[in-house]
Amino acid sequence: MDLVIKNGKVITASETYRADVGIRGGKIVAIGKNLRAKRGTQVIDARGKYVLPGTIDPHVHCELPFCGTVSADFFEETASAAAGGITTIIDFAIQAKGTSMKETIRARRKLADSKVAIDYSLHVGITDWKNKRTQRELPEVIKSGIPSFKMFMIYRGEGWMSDDADLYEALVMAKRYGGRIGVHAENVYVTETLTAKYLKEKKFATYNHALTRPNFTEGEAIQRAITLAEAADGSLYIVHMTTKEGLEAVREGKKRGVDVYAETCPQYLFLTDDLFKKKNGHWYATCPPIRKRSDCLALWKGMEEGTILNMGTDTCTFNIKQKALWKGVFAKIPFGMPGLETFLPMMYTACVKRGWSVNNLVAVTSTNSAKIFGLYPRKGTIAIGSDADLVVFDPKKRVTISPKRLQSTCDWNPYTGWKLTGYPAMTISRGRIIAKNGKFVGEKGWGQFVPRKAYGRI
Ligand code: URP
Ligand code: ZN
Ligand code: ZN
Repeated sequence: MDLVIKNGKVITASETYRADVGIRGGKIVAIGKNLRAKRGTQVIDARGKYVLPGTIDPHVHCELPFCGTVSADFFEETASAAAGGITTIIDFAIQAKGTSMKETIRARRKLADSKVAIDYSLHVGITDWKNKRTQRELPEVIKSGIPSFKMFMIYRGEGWMSDDADLYEALVMAKRYGGRIGVHAENVYVTETLTAKYLKEKKFATYNHALTRPNFTEGEAIQRAITLAEAADGSLYIVHMTTKEGLEAVREGKKRGVDVYAETCPQYLFLTDDLFKKKNGHWYATCPPIRKRSDCLALWKGMEEGTILNMGTDTCTFNIKQKALWKGVFAKIPFGMPGLETFLPMMYTACVKRGWSVNNLVAVTSTNSAKIFGLYPRKGTIAIGSDADLVVFDPKKRVTISPKRLQSTCDWNPYTGWKLTGYPAMTISRGRIIAKNGKFVGEKGWGQFVPRKAYGRI
């Protein structure tokens, strides 16, 4: 063995036990009591700590050209992810109209491969469904290890929007080849109309971001996407769900047997739209927006009852200078925020407070995403033959979040000042230590593209 983690408490989505974990060639090769380390084998003493499967973030936007600027780069973001216990991300290769999906993937991989510090995969953002080449390529893209797609019900201005017919046809076709369609669900007609009205009335302040995207605009769009998925007998994944109305639609859809999954993000559990009234309220603007306390509570309940099985961060990091591009007009804010590095420790602190088991935390932050996205059991668990992607987690470590303390290069953080108990002591990617005590110690370009399996229901 190259590495043995001794004396830790191993925690998967379904089990908790004391054991040593032995690693060779980047894989887990032994799990048991008193594993013997030969001379030359590196030994980590994890006494008093948990050994968790590496966190998986299925919703990340590195280096995304968006809202007139570009989000933080692949290396900075994945190094910061590693410091927070994340070992795999799924980023988005968003097709530009008129271009091929396969070419889009090639370009994205070219950009990412030399930079990523942790393993990664891609979803394809389909923006040009009516183009016959897109439809021809879909089976090949799935076969190549990318069985998940994101389609946008909004972002007409970005040239990303799909209409309902596109969505329906894509759901039918993806299902045939073992793929799943993700949707960004907001009602474009209402949000555009309200935005135009508010701008005309010179209502420019940040809070208007919330007022122009009321809850029903998400609820209705989620309901519509589910109706289309049901009619198409397709597999649907709602990305970044924010509202109690959306949750209710997913709950009802699942009851009817629709193959629908919904992810939420930490910002929709922890932050509320009164932040928009603060001096720097525009920093907190994302799309869809953060909501009311009642929505946060509904989403927690949705996770606890199993309607929401997994989480992503929707990290799309813009620094203070980039956020300033809004120049006082809510509709021009670069939408997105940092979230990778704080994902696991924030969720740990909150879940302990809510009385969750650590197994359940592992399920929503790692195992279920691995299952939903065709990475399991290579990723998302601790088992013989799985990649040795692990977090040695110190449940007692106290940390106060501050941008200065974080590995992230972003100069602000939505959770500055929040006090956490529990933090990753070490992150291991394919058997290699890549972060220690919140500092990245890995290597640029260490991460690999991970092809994924086509899937059925989980
Ligand atoms: O505000 C967000 N969510 N920015 C990233 C783009 C998206 O829609 O996920
Ligand atoms: Zn989106
Ligand atoms: Zn996103």
